[in-house]
Amino acid sequence: MLEGKKIIVTGSASGMGQATLKAYVKAGANVVGMDISDDKGKDISTNANNHGPGTCSFIHIDVSDEDSVKNAFYLALEELKTLDVLAHPAAIQGPADASSVKVEDWDNMFAVNVRGTMLTNQNAFKYMKKNGSGSIINFGSISGLRPEPSASAYSAAKGAVHSWTRTAAGTWGKHDIRVNAILPAIATPMYYAARERSTDEENTVAHWRNSVPIALGQEYGDPDNDLAPVMVFFASDASKFITGQLIPVDGGQTAGL
Ligand SMILES: NC(=O)c1ccc[n+]([C@@H]2O[C@H](COP(=O)([O-])OP(=O)(O)OC[C@H]3O[C@@H](n4cnc5c(N)ncnc54)[C@H](O)[C@@H]3O)[C@@H](O)[C@H]2O)c1
Repeated sequence: MLEGKKIIVTGSASGMGQATLKAYVKAGANVVGMDISDDKGKDISTNANNHGPGTCSFIHIDVSDEDSVKNAFYLALEELKTLDVLAHPAAIQGPADASSVKVEDWDNMFAVNVRGTMLTNQNAFKYMKKNGSGSIINFGSISGLRPEPSASAYSAAKGAVHSWTRTAAGTWGKHDIRVNAILPAIATPMYYAARERSTDEENTVAHWRNSVPIALGQEYGDPDNDLAPVMVFFASDASKFITGQLIPVDGGQTAGL
């Protein structure tokens, strides 16, 4: 389905980035995985190569750092020559009460999750514009739609990612570059860490599981089975008339069923 597509996947050393990278290689794409975590990132890219027909390599990136992003994209384009798709799951999550969140934690959250989205998207746009089309897949969150008392900075940052996604889609549509955001509820290391931090009686495994109606007893979705096929769809030409959308892949969680 993605034969010959040239793709960058950020956050490829874990969770949804890892699953996305593997699915793209399986679907025949030439992929560069990027992450701040080098050892895991390299291992995952090397393993993904065993699942071709596509190919995969790894380049270090810190998405919050302008020079790092510019350099990583330059090196990736040396290899790929053109760019069709950017999948951008790289992000951090962390606790922050609205009454006491520290400036340092707030700024770090916005540097990685918001500035990182702007920088990776801008660099992708530069190469996609030359190519005449492209698909950028950002990652928002239900936390950016609803009050999130335990994670105020993350919630605000994801709200900003939603707004950025719509604005970038509106700005770059004339170049046939679409920009959407996935709002997932998927069982990854980030999810398990957040669940572990939950201390209220309400925030038990059952509580989280019950927030996802379609999971039928399964605790959040599976990265490979529930998320990766959607990522393939948004990388493919089948999604070419969809842009500026926030797409929940969450078993109905966002719908509040
Ligand atoms: N897991 C969920 O249910 C859920 C829910 C809502 C939103 N999200 C969003 O989905 C996306 C993917 O999350 P995940 O669950 O796969 O997370 P994860 O923690 O498993 O993976 C995140 C990856 O991003 C990388 N990363 C962090 N900071 C970076 C930086 N500065 N530069 C480069 N890479 C960096 C990490 O090393 C890691 O490999 C994130 O944007 C997250 O906010 C996840």
